[in-house]
Amino acid sequence: MSTPSVYPPSEDFVRKAHVQGMKGYLDLYRRAEQDPETFWGEIAEREIHWFEKWSKVLEWNPPFARWFAGAKLNVSYNCLDRHLTTPRKNKVAILWEGEPGEQRALTYQELHRLVVRFASVLQSRGYKAGDRAIIYMPMIPELPIAMLACTRLGIIHSVVFGGFSAEALKARIQDLGATLVITADGGFRRGKEIKLKPAVDAALEECPGVRDAIVYRRTGSDTPMKQGRDLWWHELDEHATEDCPAVPLDSEHPLFVLYTSGTTGKPKGILHTTGGYLTHVTATMQWVFDLKEEDTYWCSADIGWVTGHSYIVYGPLAGGATSVMYEGAPDYPQFDRWWRIIEKYRISILYTSPTAIRALIRQGDQWPNAHDLSSLRLLGSVGEPINPAAWEWYNRVIGKGRCPIVDTWWQTETGGILIAPMPGAVPAKPGSGTLPMPGIIPDIVDLKGFEVGTDQEGFLILRRPWPGMIRGIWGDPERFREQYWTRVPGSYFTGDAARRDADGYFWVLGRVDDVMNVSGHRLSTMEVESALVRHPAVAEAAVVGKPHEITGQAVCCFVTLKKGDYSHEQLGKELRQWVAHEIGAFARPEEIRFTDALPKTRSGKIMRRLLREIVTNNSVTGDVTTLEDLSVVTKLAAQQDEE
Ligand code: WT7
Repeated sequence: MSTPSVYPPSEDFVRKAHVQGMKGYLDLYRRAEQDPETFWGEIAEREIHWFEKWSKVLEWNPPFARWFAGAKLNVSYNCLDRHLTTPRKNKVAILWEGEPGEQRALTYQELHRLVVRFASVLQSRGYKAGDRAIIYMPMIPELPIAMLACTRLGIIHSVVFGGFSAEALKARIQDLGATLVITADGGFRRGKEIKLKPAVDAALEECPGVRDAIVYRRTGSDTPMKQGRDLWWHELDEHATEDCPAVPLDSEHPLFVLYTSGTTGKPKGILHTTGGYLTHVTATMQWVFDLKEEDTYWCSADIGWVTGHSYIVYGPLAGGATSVMYEGAPDYPQFDRWWRIIEKYRISILYTSPTAIRALIRQGDQWPNAHDLSSLRLLGSVGEPINPAAWEWYNRVIGKGRCPIVDTWWQTETGGILIAPMPGAVPAKPGSGTLPMPGIIPDIVDLKGFEVGTDQEGFLILRRPWPGMIRGIWGDPERFREQYWTRVPGSYFTGDAARRDADGYFWVLGRVDDVMNVSGHRLSTMEVESALVRHPAVAEAAVVGKPHEITGQAVCCFVTLKKGDYSHEQLGKELRQWVAHEIGAFARPEEIRFTDALPKTRSGKIMRRLLREIVTNNSVTGDVTTLEDLSVVTKLAAQQDEE
């Protein structure tokens, strides 16, 4: 293994950073390690406004953690109200640009006003703490407004990414038992309207529990409304009041549920609660993004994923930041849209994904080079391992060698960042998330749970609870225990493989379970398989992630067909479309391969590992002793050679 390059921060960066030098980092880390409760208690006290204090920081009955239980706070109050008595009152909270080019700069005061008005609408329609709302919206300010209005009243929200289909939306509404849906007519992407309301209409046909669907008018296109169920946001706003105080909620009150793919066909609702989550995302805004009052901060994720929850909405607003939101595609109207945005708003921090970086690299350096990117001072990456070549480009072409890059490892379940360099403290190595946040004790273990040695690959686990951690899977405590806490009893199992180098740096290698990572979005092989077998022509399906230059992995499907006459070309197209319809366009398979049989173990389990090898290397190595019919594999590999 060649020694990777090391990039220490510049002296200038260190001097101005919240956490300065390795000593600064190690001081924090050691304090947290020795006495996590005092450590987190002090941060919570300093960074968050509490209506009532806790008596105990942590109650830990593995796998159930309660942080600051008994204490009372409100997330909407922390993100808005408390800033209004400070100079942040007229600071821009959300700086939004629509794809067609409109701009909105909502100050903390204005955002507060809009949130209070919408919360008053929800309250007047009878929604209250503990109720569940599904939010299905484009990237417009009303999306965080809806989230913050929910949290103001203790309504548990679940944002469903606008790219999900009606089927996926319906499954989430039903699983959550939501009584309210907040949506929009549509949004803009690549110059076209992407309608949302038709998917809501289709989903709600089988969701009798939903009382109201509130629709924000974004595009103004023709939108049929169902009497007695659908309500226009702007019409409700006519009766809104500006008197709707934030409700004091228990620190362990559920804040949101976010669905993510697990290893089965059924997505799981990851539950996050209030006080610990807010403490974690607020602390990491300072540690990892080195957030300063004067920053203009842009996280390019969609709010429909956890990155957007924690690092567009809750972390930045609790920290009093200016958080930039952009509605549309990076290549619209041309490939310099992002660089234009950075130049125009003088953005200082950019947080994005390796997939986006690779897609932009492909378009050529002339696009970023045509713009003044000198306002940038810090760059971030999230969602998947970043390959060193993409890292170097990001550093050289975007950061001009001046900006530290923070490669942040975390998951929907972890709520916030767990492994990342503090930019003024920890030297970066391209491809490594480097060192854990204070209070986080990761370890790498083998199948039996024993710690592996330096540079050895193993399973990444977390030895101790942390404030932003998952509190459960909605409606399924058994799955929660089984999936995360049984491999190494008492420790959290991440599902990732990793190794640790001689400097103690973590290198996350990817998933060890049947979860794919496509463009930094998690997708389960089983979810795609169950979508495929719902198609009348399909007998069996096995799905694996195939290495892909831009998206990291691409969805590759092996399909056996029921008896009949099919045009493979035609059916291949149809099945790709089918999956997009069943799950969402982002899940559309790159490739459908028809085969006579699938490789299985004697007990009938499909050996995805072999298929993964076929799509990766064209050949099969390793253990095939449990394989039922080896000829199947040989044939599949041969097919590949012919192509
Ligand atoms: C999985 C979590 C965290 C928000 C976005 C994805 C992979 C994430 C990194 C990184 C290597 C990473 C892991 C993880 N992942 N960030 N910096 N380096 N891998 O959230 O959909 O819950 O996916 O994404 O495999 O387990 P998610």
